[in-house]
Amino acid sequence: MTGTGGISIQGVRKTYVGRGREVLALDRIDLEIQPGDFVAFVGPSGCGKSTLMSMIAGILPVTEGRILHHGRPVTGINREAGYMTQRDAVLPWRTVAQNVELPLLLHNVPRAERRDRVASMLDQVGLSAFGQAYPVELSGGMRKRVALAQLLAYGPDTLLMDEPFGALDAQLKLLMQEQLLRIWTERRQTVVFVTHDLAEAVTLARRVVVFTGRPGRIKAIEAIELPPERDVFRVRFLPEFEAAYTRLWDALAPEIRQGEAAEGRAA
Ligand SMILES: Nc1ncnc2c1ncn2[C@@H]1O[C@H](COP(=O)(O)OP(=O)(O)OP(=O)(O)O)[C@@H](O)[C@H]1O
Ligand SMILES: [Mg+2]
Repeated sequence: MTGTGGISIQGVRKTYVGRGREVLALDRIDLEIQPGDFVAFVGPSGCGKSTLMSMIAGILPVTEGRILHHGRPVTGINREAGYMTQRDAVLPWRTVAQNVELPLLLHNVPRAERRDRVASMLDQVGLSAFGQAYPVELSGGMRKRVALAQLLAYGPDTLLMDEPFGALDAQLKLLMQEQLLRIWTERRQTVVFVTHDLAEAVTLARRVVVFTGRPGRIKAIEAIELPPERDVFRVRFLPEFEAAYTRLWDALAPEIRQGEAAEGRAA
């Protein structure tokens, strides 16, 4: 069943063709994501996580199978899902406020409402004083917050986030996670979140999907049994956290080791 914001991935396969070579990136992916779920994707580098996100976002076609969002097949750019790509899309020639405004422009939101929503988003991510600044004047963490504000600005009910906090230092990462969980608790969007950080996956997600090395397939799905009101700073000291982390690591580690061995052979 998929209702509002639900995502249904059915028998998806993705082959890249280029320069006389075919790369099978993903194979036989079946996954149901319920409305309001928070799902994390983890898997070795190159297993197709970003590829799958781009297919849900409708900016990349599937080779086989289909993806439904809101119960409808995704056939072109999926404007009902906000997508924070692995390389953020903050534009250097627009101010912070103009960057946050951009998705509202694309959704034809009237001017006065755009102004109000931008102000409220900047406030939520703690950047009210930087609306007129340019991205070059920001720290890495502030830039990520601009991208987060941009993602949330038009209120999509589905958020696709590809390693959004990957480059941040450990403390800032916790603050961003806290902010995201607060927003999610309030609005209950459907979230798909890619990360290399298992602790981050366990801290944030209700379910964690482990992918095999390329071609990516789903190896395991772990339900995270932690209290719904979690404190991102303290949750890691709970026994349930350790148990989930260990099970995920046991599923993921062989995939990473296999990838390294294959690269060793290729070298
Ligand atoms: N445009 C493309 N053309 C050809 N091959 C591609 C293209 N994009 C990705 N690939 C290949 O598809 C596979 C999956 O790539 P993808 O970026 O989805 O992996 P990922 O799981 O997101 O990796 P990472 O964790 O490093 O971000 C890789 O082998 C990659 O080389
Ligand atoms: Mg990626």
